[in-house]
Amino acid sequence: MQGPDRLTLPQPDPDSELARRRCHALIAERIERAGGMISFAEYMHLCLYAPGAGYYTAGNVKFGPAGDFVTAPEVSSLFGYVVARRIAPVLAAIDEADVLEFGAGSGKLAADVLDKLEALGVVPRRYRILEVSADLVERQRALLTERVPQWLDRVQWIADWPEGHRGVVLANEVLDALAVERFVRRSPHALQQCVAIDGERFVVAEREAPEFLAAEVDAIETDLGHALAEGYVTEVSPAARHWINDLGQSVAEGLVMLFDYGLPRREYYAAERSGGWLRCHFRHRAHNDPLILSGIQDITSWVDFTAVAMAAVDTGFRVAGYSSQAEFLLGGGLAEEMSVKGPEEALALSREIKLLTLPGEMGEHFKCLGLLKGATNVPELFEFGNRLHRL
Ligand SMILES: C[S@@+](CC[C@H](N)C(=O)[O-])C[C@H]1O[C@@H](n2cnc3c(N)ncnc32)[C@H](O)[C@@H]1O
Repeated sequence: MQGPDRLTLPQPDPDSELARRRCHALIAERIERAGGMISFAEYMHLCLYAPGAGYYTAGNVKFGPAGDFVTAPEVSSLFGYVVARRIAPVLAAIDEADVLEFGAGSGKLAADVLDKLEALGVVPRRYRILEVSADLVERQRALLTERVPQWLDRVQWIADWPEGHRGVVLANEVLDALAVERFVRRSPHALQQCVAIDGERFVVAEREAPEFLAAEVDAIETDLGHALAEGYVTEVSPAARHWINDLGQSVAEGLVMLFDYGLPRREYYAAERSGGWLRCHFRHRAHNDPLILSGIQDITSWVDFTAVAMAAVDTGFRVAGYSSQAEFLLGGGLAEEMSVKGPEEALALSREIKLLTLPGEMGEHFKCLGLLKGATNVPELFEFGNRLHRL
């Protein structure tokens, strides 16, 4: 972990500082109870999801200009409209099909998708949302009440994985929000990176990797065909694999679309990426120190899409395709959605499209992975660009 250029990070306002102290105290107590250190994964999970004190559970603004980051659905409704175009044939082909969205954020994607599905004449039987943040559930309900009141009776918030889901699953930037393990390669074994306390600060500590983590590192090195370099620090996400496994248990038939920033395994663990893929976001500044601003900044990690695809196959999915967000949008009808009413709207739209599709913005770093189960088939979905061979 390198320190950020702290001069560029804004000071938290007094309320945020109080929230930070609350989260810090909770984690510090947990570290003491654990005997002096906790795994980085546990630290990250507490920072994001500690009940009442985590980033996603304590009521921060999070999304949009007043928050810390923007996601594709927040950038533009075009994202949700194209998603709706892509999933409409699947919903139409399955009897009593449902949509299940994970981690729906502000509810923007749900509103845009329902809006467009209505226009396409294929509204799902139910639009179910599984969201771990009670505070976000309330925001989603408010936004959907405002945007699509006519479909509110079809929207359900659920607390657990449904059984026998048939239809479509959507998850935008959920995998990157699951807590990751960090490790450092030191001969002859990898060590687990942990978090300990030094006075008022959290600091990195290391200990022997537990068996499950040592096995993860072995599997990565076997896939790569060589050991990672001495001192190489990186992440691995057992939580993502468990999540995919639960997904496999839950979905009986249909299409799963996962959107996130990430890479194939070979690029993820490339020699030059010796500091890992963790990113923190605070008031629209990205940096790489997760040990500060605990509970008031977002912590994310890029996704190893090879690991996700392999876990999906292990749990009974077929991989439909893997493309960049730009390829997904351009091949999915972005052009058809670009009707504008005047020059001002055209300007705003062109800005949104650039953000969504340019390689230096979200177009290339963000990927779309499609998974299939049962009779569902979508040969046209990745026609425009399929990088499956790179996984
Ligand atoms: C980075 S935000 C993305 C929000 C939204 N999908 C968007 O694109 O704007 C991550 C979301 O995933 C949710 N989340 C995290 N872990 C989850 C889990 N295990 N199941 C469901 N949602 C989860 C968070 O509460 C949050 O809503």
